[in-house]
This record gives sequence, structure tokens and C-alpha cells, in this order.
Amino acid sequence: MKSKQILKIIVDILMTVTLLLLMAYSLVYGSNPAVGEAVHEWLGTGMFVLFVLHHFFNRKWSFSVLKGKYTPYRVVQTILVVLILLTMCGSMFSGILLSRTVFSFLGIRGGQAAARTLHMLSAYWGFVFMSLHLGLHWSVMMGMARKLTKKSSKVCKWILRTIAALIAVYGVYAFIKRDFGNYMLLRYHFVFFDFEELLALFLLDYAAIMGLFVYAGYYISVLLTGRYGKKKR
Ligand code: HEM
Repeated sequence: MKSKQILKIIVDILMTVTLLLLMAYSLVYGSNPAVGEAVHEWLGTGMFVLFVLHHFFNRKWSFSVLKGKYTPYRVVQTILVVLILLTMCGSMFSGILLSRTVFSFLGIRGGQAAARTLHMLSAYWGFVFMSLHLGLHWSVMMGMARKLTKKSSKVCKWILRTIAALIAVYGVYAFIKRDFGNYMLLRYHFVFFDFEELLALFLLDYAAIMGLFVYAGYYISVLLTGRYGKKKR
């Protein structure tokens, strides 16, 4: 595997981990919410850098967006990319307005209530769109993983598929338990964090919710292309 491909995978993994940590907001820094808030702002800024790198590595795709035929798969893929771009801009823009550490030197005041609403909407919808996007490209990721490891047996494939299904089922439970849908629909205007809770448990639930949407994204791609377990373009 070429070093560029390895770098691409590293950026994607870092984005996934950073996204999960961002959703935990100040829980990331245990019992000191003030430090946690600053860590969140630095992680958000890091996410932006990773997002730019991700686009740099995939620039061939962006440059050919107006070229060629649009299959149903490509339509859905492109709509998701646009939605991710919008939610990422929403998170960054509102994050800068709300910033109390990293961008506080800008001295921006006012519009806090609107920025908070935009931040929450962008964070929760962005999480779903990014997870679906990951699912849509899951077969490409698996293809890369296959290059790194030896070919897997049929039994191994079915074991992995069963694990994926179990994660998705737990993801439904975590989605309900964590009130994820209510945050997406703005039924609450603040996210409730339990500062007594272990960060690992929060991350486990959010990783399962991510898994649920990756699973959905993968099967949407199977439906759109009719190909199961193979690389699609
Ligand atoms: C993809 C990027 C980001 C995601 C997914 C994300 C996610 C979140 C979440 C889930 C919360 C808690 C919910 C809330 O109270 O609104 C939050 C709050 C916050 N985030 Fe971010 N964030 C991102 C980027 C940023 C950036 C770049 C900054 C600033 C540099 C930032 C600054 C803040 C601040 C100040 C709050 C507290 C808002 C308040 O006072 O209610 N975030 N973020």
C-alpha cells in the first residue's frame, strides 16, 4: 500500500475519533469542565484541519464532481458530501462565535443563542451524515484493510457481519437512551451531560450510534448498487 493511502486512512481514523470526542464536549476532561471546554475548542479546530486534509487527499473526487454520469449511488454520495460540508461550516462558524478560549481574541459578542442552536443542529446532524458517509464508503475501507491483511475466510466474514448487526442493534438502544433524536429535532436547547459518568461509557454509546448509521449507510449503498461486499465507484 502506498504511503499516501496510509496517510489517508490515518486522517480518516483521526477524524472518526475526534468526532466522538467532540460529541462528549467537556466530559473529555473528566472533573474539570473548564479545561474540558478548552480541550473541546482545540479538538474542534483540529477537526477543521483534518477536514481540509481529507478534502486535499480526495481532491480528484471534488474536481470531477461536474463530470460524468450520475448514478443513484453517486447522487446520494454527492448530496451527503454537500450536507457534511454545510454542517461542518455550521459547527466551525458557530463554534468560533461561542469560543471562550481559542478564538476569544476575536472579541465577538452577541448572537450567542442563535450560535448555540446552530452548533447543536450542526453537531448532531453532522454526526449522522458523517457516519452515513463512512458507511457508503465502507466497502472501499474494507478493500484497503484486505490489502493490509490476508484474505479472510467465509466464516470470518459472517462473524464480522453478525458483530456489525449486533452493534447496530445496540446503536438503536443507545440512540433512544441518549435522546439523540430529540437533540436532532431541537427538542432540547442544551445537551445534558452527566459529569459523574465515565467518558468510556459515553464514547461506547456514541460509537454504537455511529455504528448504526455506518451500517445503514453500507446497506443503502448495497441497495443502490446491487453489490454486496465489493468495492463500488
Ligand atoms: C465538527 C466540529 C464540532 C462538533 C461535532 C462539536 C460538538 C459540540 C457539542 C456536541 C457540544 C455540546 C452541545 C451544546 O451545548 O451545544 C458543543 C458545545 C460547544 N462547542 Fe463544539 N463542536 C465542534 C466544533 C467546535 C469548534 C471549532 C469550537 C470553537 C473553537 C467549538 C466550541 C464549542 C463551545 C464554546 C461549546 C459550548 C456551547 C455552549 O455554551 O452552550 N466547537 N460542541
